[in-house]
Amino acid sequence: MKHKSQLIWLTALTVCAILIIAACGQATPTAAPTEAVSPTNPPAATPPPTEPPPAPALVGDSLRGGKLYDNFFEELAVEVPAQMNPQWVAANAEDTTIEKSYRCVKCHGWDFNGNKPFVGVMADVGKDPNAILDILKGSTNKDHDYSALMDEQALTDLALFISNELIDTSAIVVDGQPINGDAANGKTLFGDNCTDCHGPEGLAISFHPDNAPEYPATIANEDALELLGKLRFGQPNVPDMPSGIDNGWTDQEYADVIAYVATLPMASPVTEGGRIYDEWFAAFGVEAPEGDQPLWKTQTTNTRTGAVTWRCKECHGWDYKGVDGRYGSGSHQTGFPGILNAATMSLADLTAWLDGTKNADHNFSSHMTADDFARLAAFIQKDVVDKSAFINDDKTIVGGDAAHGKQLFDSVCKVCHGEDGKTLNFGDDQEPEYFGTVAADNPWEFFNKATVGVPGEAMPAGWNLGWTLQDIIDLMTYAQTLPTK
Ligand code: HEC
Ligand code: HEC
Ligand code: HEC
Ligand code: HEC
Repeated sequence: MKHKSQLIWLTALTVCAILIIAACGQATPTAAPTEAVSPTNPPAATPPPTEPPPAPALVGDSLRGGKLYDNFFEELAVEVPAQMNPQWVAANAEDTTIEKSYRCVKCHGWDFNGNKPFVGVMADVGKDPNAILDILKGSTNKDHDYSALMDEQALTDLALFISNELIDTSAIVVDGQPINGDAANGKTLFGDNCTDCHGPEGLAISFHPDNAPEYPATIANEDALELLGKLRFGQPNVPDMPSGIDNGWTDQEYADVIAYVATLPMASPVTEGGRIYDEWFAAFGVEAPEGDQPLWKTQTTNTRTGAVTWRCKECHGWDYKGVDGRYGSGSHQTGFPGILNAATMSLADLTAWLDGTKNADHNFSSHMTADDFARLAAFIQKDVVDKSAFINDDKTIVGGDAAHGKQLFDSVCKVCHGEDGKTLNFGDDQEPEYFGTVAADNPWEFFNKATVGVPGEAMPAGWNLGWTLQDIIDLMTYAQTLPTK
């Protein structure tokens, strides 16, 4: 982004040269705050004694400003205020959430022309960032003061973004369609820049709960301008998602990627169903039902209560064998049957099991729709297999290649879980549980998470990275060599 800062620098000097008395005359000689000075930028040169010093130019990261414009709550991890944005209320705009009522993009738009009834910000292109900064601090309207929600640097980055990074989006997308997009070239760009995290078909991470999943293709088809925004700046709080501006993409390249992404699938029933099997209320982002699942009282050996009693896996097991498998003894023992035989059932029969037709106490229909049952059915029909073909009773893995597993781990999992798998702790300080711990203690559970992902987390699903069963076996073999504490 060096070129950007240099541009800002030049602009500042030009402004000073033209408005030497008006703009710079009263400027105090204080330097910009240290954290605002980029290491690549020297502080202002000391002016000749006869001339007053130039006003401090705003220095910051206009691309970060683009992510803040999208969602500063995400990017900065700050709390959403308790009340609706008064400007939203005053404008009588359509119902929305408190969070959305404060997000710049929700009022000013992905095309920067303003979402009705709000004004656009295109008029501010090239404006002195100091003037924009003032607007963000409420100079034109006290309700447009964002200084309580973010620090000076974030406001500065936003001002630089508005002044420097806005484009006429109609050069790339018109009426939701990319102009002359070449999907074949888009496929190459997507493969080079996106598949590591999103998978070859863009299905590895769902952006929404599993009862209304959303993938890159969903966004390309429903709001191509939003996709353009994400392509240009990346995703708030996902530092490793690339920025097309950083990559030097042309308008044509953006159009190509959007055209390709629009052709990708928008659903992945097997992995969605697998996360629902794991913990459906986390997958849906809802509270678990009150009390115990009605069938729970028919057993006494598993003494857990509440939410966990509603999880499919708690009754049927990570090995899908119920009483005939890992949950045949120990604290998880319930005596409930497995579902291995259900893998050959039709959607209609599986639905009859899930909506209470077969057993009135095995009724999930007040929590799930027919679509959710179809997701569970897709998972059961494909993934419910006897894992003893590749996981031994003593938890060792059959026929894995740890060296290849390490390659897979390094290419995807390491980013979040760390070199040794210890960056994320799923347990607590007393009893830590790491990547390696789950692989060693419960390879059946590890298999599920590695293939379908973790409910409610933006973690890629191995199946949708295009990984095969052998790949997962290799990954598990390597994962078992990582530290467990
Ligand atoms: C609730 C809707 C709303 C949100 C959210 C919002 N603005 Fe505004 N913005 C307005 C309105 C209305 C104006 C017009 C004048 C005013 O109220 O200051 C405006 C004016 C502006 C202007 C000056 C536009 C002009 O006319 O030249 C800029 C720049 C701007 N906003 C940037 C931002 C940024 C950056 C954010 C996010 C931190 C943001 N706004 C969030 C509603 C909003
Ligand atoms: C380093 C991993 C990584 C790479 C590479 C990556 N992304 Fe992402 N992307 C993510 C993550 C993580 C999210 C956030 C998902 C969430 O929070 O739900 C995300 C979010 C998104 C979103 C939008 C989500 C929303 O909330 O609306 C889109 C669209 C997207 N990515 C497209 C792409 C495209 C296209 C590429 C290639 C140009 C790409 N990503 C490259 C990791 C990545
Ligand atoms: C509280 C424990 C419990 C929970 C939670 C639970 N089940 Fe069951 N499930 C059972 C019991 C017990 C049976 C057998 C009931 C019967 O024979 O009438 C069963 C039967 C089944 C069957 C039929 C198996 C066969 O081979 O006939 C399927 C399929 C099934 N469950 C899937 C699920 C799914 C999917 C979930 C999660 C949405 C789930 N179950 C949640 C206890 C549970
Ligand atoms: C974008 C970040 C990210 C990436 C990449 C990622 N994970 Fe995760 N993973 C998470 C998060 C977040 C959690 C949940 C942490 C928690 O529950 O505290 C998690 C949890 C897990 C868990 C255990 C969950 C539990 O509760 O026991 C396993 C197993 C796991 N990940 C495997 C993998 C594998 C295998 C890969 C590579 C294919 C991978 N992860 C890649 C973010 C990631």
